[in-house]
Amino acid sequence: MRSLITGTGSYVPEKILTNADLEKMVETNDQWIVERTGIKERHIAAPEQASSDLAVEASKKALEMAGLKAEDLDLIVVGTISPDYQFPSCAAVVQGKLGNKKAFVFDVSAACAGSLYALSVADRFVATGAVRNALVIGVETLSRITDWTDRNTCVLFGDGAGAMVLQPTEDDRRGLRSIKLHTDGSLVPILLMPGGGSKEPINQALIDAKSHYVKMNGREVFKVAVRALDDSCREALAVEKLSPSDVTWVCAHQANKRIIDATLERLGIPQEKCWMNVHKYGNTSSASVPMTLDEANRAGWLKPGDVVLMTAIGAGMAWGAGVIRW
Ligand code: ACO
Repeated sequence: MRSLITGTGSYVPEKILTNADLEKMVETNDQWIVERTGIKERHIAAPEQASSDLAVEASKKALEMAGLKAEDLDLIVVGTISPDYQFPSCAAVVQGKLGNKKAFVFDVSAACAGSLYALSVADRFVATGAVRNALVIGVETLSRITDWTDRNTCVLFGDGAGAMVLQPTEDDRRGLRSIKLHTDGSLVPILLMPGGGSKEPINQALIDAKSHYVKMNGREVFKVAVRALDDSCREALAVEKLSPSDVTWVCAHQANKRIIDATLERLGIPQEKCWMNVHKYGNTSSASVPMTLDEANRAGWLKPGDVVLMTAIGAGMAWGAGVIRW
């Protein structure tokens, strides 16, 4: 038995923040941002919207496509680094808002690779028959942990949510195949939110130092990202005895157009096979992969049996790649 993605959904908040808007906030310009990242605009959650609210909207669409009701769900796994609360999980809040009372639910923390990690975990439960209907969500309100005075980071991120429904299939020609995941914890210092955890609980000095915001060494992240994505894509494909030329579509974490282009070039996969939306959403971290999958799906790209290659990398550094027979 394998797990099959039977529904996808995505949601972005209404408010759009353009590069021109950012020019008024920090010393930057549209040309710099577009050339270095491919990003033109991003969506920002309204003050009353938390991550769970975005997740619920995306989930409703995924459930509708799968023909399921929220109460049919046995499992909800949420990949996020910007949950509503430190505890309980964002998944618990989402479950409550969806009105499901029986599923077991939890969050996975793997930053931008969060939804791929969450998918891998949910896949094990579905493919072994332990649960029938699983919901995997990637959601972020990174705008809440972004320092809007730091031009090194604030031009990169956006808010959004993506969701995928997983159900078992006996059809061996379809479903999730190998997902290969990796973490290198020696790279924690190059991308993290240093303050507000148990190492340094919230205090005034921390707030004054802006330690409760994302800190990043962009150049180091870039170097690690391209190599790691290339390696993990090849690794996941090799398990299935596939090569990059067998890939029908790529669904890549939309961190940055240059990272994606460089990865595709190393793999020898044409850019036309990769759905792009970084120009309109920026880097939505863990939401990015399921949002991208949903857009490609609703555009009619994905046909039964297609080889879909998913890949993502984020803080940790944590990364991976997965192969789906759609
Ligand atoms: N506008 C204008 N100038 C800027 C901006 C900005 N927004 N940000 C930085 N600069 C300046 C820097 O201060 C620096 O100026 P200096 O030479 O006078 O010191 C100059 O531009 C070059 O800075 P670099 O950091 O070296 O620029 P780089 O070419 O590396 O591009 C970027 C920066 C876009 C962040 C790149 O390193 C990158 O894409 N890294 C990957 C980071 C990423 O995607 N992180 C997302 C989270 S993790 C993930 O999802 C994989």
